[in-house]
Amino acid sequence: MTLDSLQLLFFKNYDEASLRLSPGINCFIGDNGSGKTNLLDAIHYLSLTKSAFTTSDSQSIKQGADFFVVKGKFTSELAPAGETIQVSLRSGQKKALTHDKQPYERMADHIGRYPAVLISPYDTDLIRQGSEERRKYFDSLMAQLDHEFLELLIMYNALLRQRNAVLKQAGDRSHGFDRDYLLALDEQLAPLGQQLSELRATFLVDFAPVFRRHYEQLADGREQVLVSYKSQLPGADFAQLLRANERRDFALQRSTTGPHRDDFVFLMDELPVKSYASQGQQKSFAIALKLAQFELLASRQQHKPLLLLDDIFDRLDDKRIARLLELVANDTFGQVFLTDTNLQRTDQALARVSSDILRFRVQQGSVAPV
Ligand SMILES: Nc1ncnc2c1ncn2[C@@H]1O[C@H](COP(=O)(O)OP(=O)(O)OP(=O)(O)O)[C@@H](O)[C@H]1O
Ligand SMILES: [Mg+2]
Repeated sequence: MTLDSLQLLFFKNYDEASLRLSPGINCFIGDNGSGKTNLLDAIHYLSLTKSAFTTSDSQSIKQGADFFVVKGKFTSELAPAGETIQVSLRSGQKKALTHDKQPYERMADHIGRYPAVLISPYDTDLIRQGSEERRKYFDSLMAQLDHEFLELLIMYNALLRQRNAVLKQAGDRSHGFDRDYLLALDEQLAPLGQQLSELRATFLVDFAPVFRRHYEQLADGREQVLVSYKSQLPGADFAQLLRANERRDFALQRSTTGPHRDDFVFLMDELPVKSYASQGQQKSFAIALKLAQFELLASRQQHKPLLLLDDIFDRLDDKRIARLLELVANDTFGQVFLTDTNLQRTDQALARVSSDILRFRVQQGSVAPV
């Protein structure tokens, strides 16, 4: 699968940009703040229908403009003649997504068609921040791999929102409280939550060894690492847990038990990565998570995901860069997009890589081949 071209209109710091891309390696070179990461984010939109960095889509509209468009043409085994994906947003309206000009009914229908994996300096947030970050990460990965998981997650979250609204209303005395409604919601929620946690547990069985191998390769096997799933489920009965926690849920006006409270545990030499590992070890840990993600996506689908490498040369020591580039050189990856501030450094790093390389110079919201 390749992204052949990319076009932007009023996206972040770009007025207008249009690029023909290499099926091999695409390098975006420019100073800090010039718009390199924004290009990767535009590609992230085409793959996952949203930004990798901002939670609100309206922040992607160029300041002073009132809409943005990101458009890209993909070719793949599924669409050998090419398919044009377009994401657009006009302020105050709903985001629109089309394939060959036909609207998708739901954004979710697009997820997984053109997978991408982004490795960025923010990845260590996965380690440093709270459990929500990790749940989002694994859920998004599983959603790209398995459409049924995505559907399940959407349904679970919708029911959970309703349940929390009921609990909130019950706390607010001006409203009556309909316990039967809560019980009816729980009847639907319980099997979904049970299934969600079982799927996460099963997924981790596949993911953990792949992750471990990538960490060992990247770090030369110096530390022992482990990723595991922490949940009250599976193994317990979610319906029973919901009943057992009902009083507490009322008191706190939210649902205190369920897969939305799960976590993923990251250990290095049996200690928490967050407090024990060095910065470089944390970076390597995060990169290994992403490489495992890439491998699983590539093996379960017909095509290799796009690989987006943001500021990779800035963050790793030479040995680790060399190991990563070995993967680039030996065809582990498909199409690659990388950013750097220094053209010479990029050229040196890629000197022994034989794929088609295209270099682009990025300057304050404009981008052109070097
Ligand atoms: N909605 C927007 N409107 C206008 N400018 C924006 C918008 N969103 C982001 N920007 C600007 O885009 C600029 C470029 O951001 P980007 O993160 O792509 O830079 P970069 O080239 O990756 O820099 P670095 O080397 O520091 O990582 C930033 O200065 C930011 O202020
Ligand atoms: Mg950047």
